[in-house]
Amino acid sequence: MELDHIFNKLWNDYASLNPSVKRIKALFEQENETILNDHIAFRTFDHPLMNLAVLSALFIKHGYREIQDYHFEEKHLYAKHYEHKDIPNAPRVFISELKLKEMSKQLQQLVNDFIKPVPSKTFASEELLFSGRVWELPSFEVYNTLRNESEYAAWLYVFGFRANHFTVSINDLKTLNSVEKVNAFLKLKGFLINDSGGEIKGSPAELLEQSSIKSETIKVDFKEGIFDIPGCYYEFAKRYPDTDGKLYSGFIAKSADKIFESTDFYSKED
Ligand code: NI
Repeated sequence: MELDHIFNKLWNDYASLNPSVKRIKALFEQENETILNDHIAFRTFDHPLMNLAVLSALFIKHGYREIQDYHFEEKHLYAKHYEHKDIPNAPRVFISELKLKEMSKQLQQLVNDFIKPVPSKTFASEELLFSGRVWELPSFEVYNTLRNESEYAAWLYVFGFRANHFTVSINDLKTLNSVEKVNAFLKLKGFLINDSGGEIKGSPAELLEQSSIKSETIKVDFKEGIFDIPGCYYEFAKRYPDTDGKLYSGFIAKSADKIFESTDFYSKED
């Protein structure tokens, strides 16, 4: 598999599941902007069959290497970011995992129950990253039980293995060249900005500013019927140069912590 093919496949899945991201890309292009991806992100459980190491394998094989790791104590997440060793424009890859042992017995039981029937070869496949949900049709009741404890776990239960978000590199935009301008543009077009922790996460002093739209609600098949729940979101990032003049390349845990909330459940009427 070529690297371009991997990203195209991930984009096609993400864009077909979430029509709003396709709309946003088209709106940017109408403004004569060219979109480069700052990073793309994945979610998983720290279960040995599908943990961070398993998910990163395909990227490592294609020339990525681990750069830094991050802890999100409150959300019980651990994450790493990867960069390509010799393609400077290749998107960073950000993979997080939920630390199951820190969760309630009930959550661990629910997760084990839906993982157990899945053949282990499914998780060993190179196609895992493009597989979406590999377990049974989800139950809306289980989704809500998971959500009470971890919105992250609930999202992962329904959507599985795919890009959770792509991130537009604002540094590579010509006119919409600040997070403020991007947010104003998106609001004008009717999109909702995730305002948990403020509409802009981070600051020039922290060398990274980020924002994201709230995931749009999409229709999902559950055992109990079809329900509208938040899917994936689009993120926007602007990086600033370090004292050595090089653009900062890492992530800020306290900002990312709030961005995870872009997939939190909300009702359209809110
Ligand atoms: Ni991100």
